[in-house]
Amino acid sequence: MQQQPRSRRRVQPSAARGAADCAQACARLPAVPSTLLIPLAARAHGGRYFPWLDCGDAVAAQLLERLEVDASATLDDLPTVLNVLWRTRAIKEAGAAFFSQHPQGWGVNLGCGLTHHFQWLDTGANHWLDADLPAVMGLREALLVPRCPRQRHAQVDLTQPGWWQRLGLGQGAGAQPVLVVCEGVLMYLQPDQVRAVLAEFAQHAPEGSRLVLDALTRQAVGHAGVHASVGATGAEFCWGVGRMAELADVHPRLALLREQSVSECYGWAGLALDMLTRPWLGAPLYGLATLGVEDGAH
Ligand SMILES: C[S@@+](CC[C@H](N)C(=O)[O-])C[C@H]1O[C@@H](n2cnc3c(N)ncnc32)[C@H](O)[C@@H]1O
Repeated sequence: MQQQPRSRRRVQPSAARGAADCAQACARLPAVPSTLLIPLAARAHGGRYFPWLDCGDAVAAQLLERLEVDASATLDDLPTVLNVLWRTRAIKEAGAAFFSQHPQGWGVNLGCGLTHHFQWLDTGANHWLDADLPAVMGLREALLVPRCPRQRHAQVDLTQPGWWQRLGLGQGAGAQPVLVVCEGVLMYLQPDQVRAVLAEFAQHAPEGSRLVLDALTRQAVGHAGVHASVGATGAEFCWGVGRMAELADVHPRLALLREQSVSECYGWAGLALDMLTRPWLGAPLYGLATLGVEDGAH
């Protein structure tokens, strides 16, 4: 099911777009793409509330200012701010570990929004691709121009099969493993579309590749309207997990290498809540999964 756009005006990609144009284009983003402002606000200012998780994003605050976005509503939603900072730290750690093994490898951020993970993960020899829907990439072209030839941008619609090849990502024996990040994206796709994204990754990614994704519990599906930040955007949660292990069931080359719950940020109270709700939910309320592509995984 496609979300209804808040405006039908098309966004024109242009590196020369001025600040006022960007702010207008941002205000006219359709419902799901507009959710990118929530994690952007959390990365920009969330460190005030959770200094131990401050990600030190060098660009997020400037982007919010250029887009004339009032971040106060997101910053009133502290659980979401915590979720974003926690996942940012986990992705940084996963990226650092991956590129220490593959210093010249590729990282890909699917549904990148206005993230800038390459500020932390640039090893001087690796490559990074940021990809999102055309409306978002139009904004990104104007605001976050790639700074070196090892970094590039591409448009992608993950609901259209064949995206791995269209993005020109490596595949087959001899290709370098790829680190794929997909954060804050899959919950807005239909379950069949999410399975297709996982299957496409599994079919094409070279052995040793990793996919780091976040997921909500399946109980959240259909309830975005009551979410403190997402509710106002008009976007809906369409997919969630019943068990993290089901992610790897999609394809025989997939293995669930790591499962993390945001409850780890809440100390004993969080761990106790996780243990109490797990028999009912089967998965964390909000968590991260790291999937690996291994021939003979099952
Ligand atoms: C909550 S934002 C997350 C943005 C970014 N990953 C972050 O963490 O800041 C959701 C993102 O998913 C992207 N998205 C949603 N559906 C998509 C699709 N079918 N193909 C590619 N990107 C999509 C949106 O455009 C938006 O940028």
